[in-house]
Amino acid sequence: MNFHILTLFPDMVLDGLGTSITGRAVKNGLLSIEAVNIRDYAFNKHQSVDDYPYGGGAGMLMQAEPVFLAYEAVAGKLAKKPRVVYLSPQGRVFDQNMARELAKEEDLILLCGHYEGIDERVLEEIVTDYVSIGDYVLTGGELPAMVMVDVISRLVPGVLHNDVSAEFESFQDNLLEYPQYSRPEVWRGRQVPPVLLSGHHANIEKWRREQSIIRTKERRPDLLAKCDLPEDE
Ligand code: ADE
Repeated sequence: MNFHILTLFPDMVLDGLGTSITGRAVKNGLLSIEAVNIRDYAFNKHQSVDDYPYGGGAGMLMQAEPVFLAYEAVAGKLAKKPRVVYLSPQGRVFDQNMARELAKEEDLILLCGHYEGIDERVLEEIVTDYVSIGDYVLTGGELPAMVMVDVISRLVPGVLHNDVSAEFESFQDNLLEYPQYSRPEVWRGRQVPPVLLSGHHANIEKWRREQSIIRTKERRPDLLAKCDLPEDE
């Protein structure tokens, strides 16, 4: 899968996503992550990409033309018109279902705004999806874009080296993941639950399922309400 991030801060996204699992997936050729510097498409000698909003008001806006040219530089190379996500607190709130849907795309353009936003006309022209990562306001779209790339990447086959866990972890069935333990068997007086040492796989599965349900009820009752659990559970 190919991510194309239109941004004023290419180093920020490339540094962040170039490390750890996404970085490894890029090296292995499972993903590509391109950061396109919108400033490279500035059309004045100062290379500025922002201007005052018509009608007045606080702050500056990103101008339409550099954003559009950056978009065209990417979209012009692709066979099919790509989905273009604009990261904004006004968007639909990102969740695991949206990630699953977007993971089906071959190419995805993520547009990061700064200052007070972007001239509405270019958004109307190119954006297909408005996405927020939560109900709070960040200084720009870069961190949200990185969050989306991270979440979607781990659903791309091969990225985790372990295809079972990508979908098995938290949020499968809207249930949270069960607690996990590693060595030592007793840590500062705290025992690993004995069932996990029993070697009885059916009992272990049953215990984990129960723990997932209990944990979701305690920590995220809103998710449990969306679960379609059988009567006995
Ligand atoms: N830009 C600023 N805040 C944001 C948010 N919560 N989600 C996505 N993009 C944003």
